[in-house]
Amino acid sequence: MSINSEVLNSKVRRLSALLVLLVALNIFTIIFVFVIGKSGLHFELARQFFGNSNRELIMSWHNFFEYIEGAAGCTNLKIFGGQLYRNTNMIDGNKAVCLDENIAPTPGACTVLSFGINNEWSFDDAMEEYGCKVFAFDPTMQQPAHTRGRDIHFQPWGLGGITGIKNKIPVLTYRDILKKIRKEDSIIDYLKIDIEGFELDFFENVLDEDVELLANIKQIGMEIHPGRSVAFRNKIWSQIRQLRSLNFSQTYSQPNLIPPNAYKFENKTVSNCYEILWCNENFR
Ligand SMILES: *[C@@H]1O[C@H](CO)[C@@H](O)[C@H](O)[C@H]1NC(C)=O
Ligand SMILES: *[C@@H]1O[C@H](CO)[C@@H](O)[C@H](O)[C@H]1NC(C)=O
Repeated sequence: MSINSEVLNSKVRRLSALLVLLVALNIFTIIFVFVIGKSGLHFELARQFFGNSNRELIMSWHNFFEYIEGAAGCTNLKIFGGQLYRNTNMIDGNKAVCLDENIAPTPGACTVLSFGINNEWSFDDAMEEYGCKVFAFDPTMQQPAHTRGRDIHFQPWGLGGITGIKNKIPVLTYRDILKKIRKEDSIIDYLKIDIEGFELDFFENVLDEDVELLANIKQIGMEIHPGRSVAFRNKIWSQIRQLRSLNFSQTYSQPNLIPPNAYKFENKTVSNCYEILWCNENFR
């Protein structure tokens, strides 16, 4: 082999090594973007990472609080349940229900689904008293399936984005829960959800895969937990706006002021979590 061809050979070798490196880098980038895009919260990070400053301007905390605290459209609002929270003078566990014509649960012929009980039954008892059949769910109470009172039916299930195990807790999708209680095609007069953050999974699942099930719900009473996380805030906000495009109007909003949830923002008291009521305007 001549000197020249040896030099050429080593150049070729170096070039092909560089090529392999570039291809590997490309594959890595594609996998990285794909994996990040796959999971909802990480998608938010990816969005910020790859930049979108315009949207960030719109989605400020200022705008979020302005939006989340707005409520209108129910003339006959009533609070059901609630009791004093530990050694404070604040009420917890209460839920707003709209009693306007066509939107109100019909006493004697209404169905309530109640997710997240935490041994606090005041809302469920009040809805039973009003005349509704109540299906209550909580996987964290170490209680087996049972009937409470006359018409409250408890199951130790969690509401989630999948049917399976999440954080060691048995969860089911909204559709699978409806199937189990045979309410897939029924009107749900009131859907109560107070599940400490899992509402993001619930919304993601129904909005993506089972949006028609939302059309059967007259009212949704939910505690949302944006906390102080931009990712959570943006996610729940986008879900709420999807809900609005399905004709759910925000008819009640209340910050949860139980310590340590409340804090000051631009001289205003805001909270890590809010009680919201949405009414399905298609029923009016
Ligand atoms: C929302 O309400 C409008 C006006 O009543 C109606 O035309 C539209 O079909 C509704 N949209 C949905 C998704 O139900
Ligand atoms: C908050 O209140 C203080 C004192 O009243 C005032 O000087 C300040 O400008 C206010 N800040 C905002 C963001 O409104």
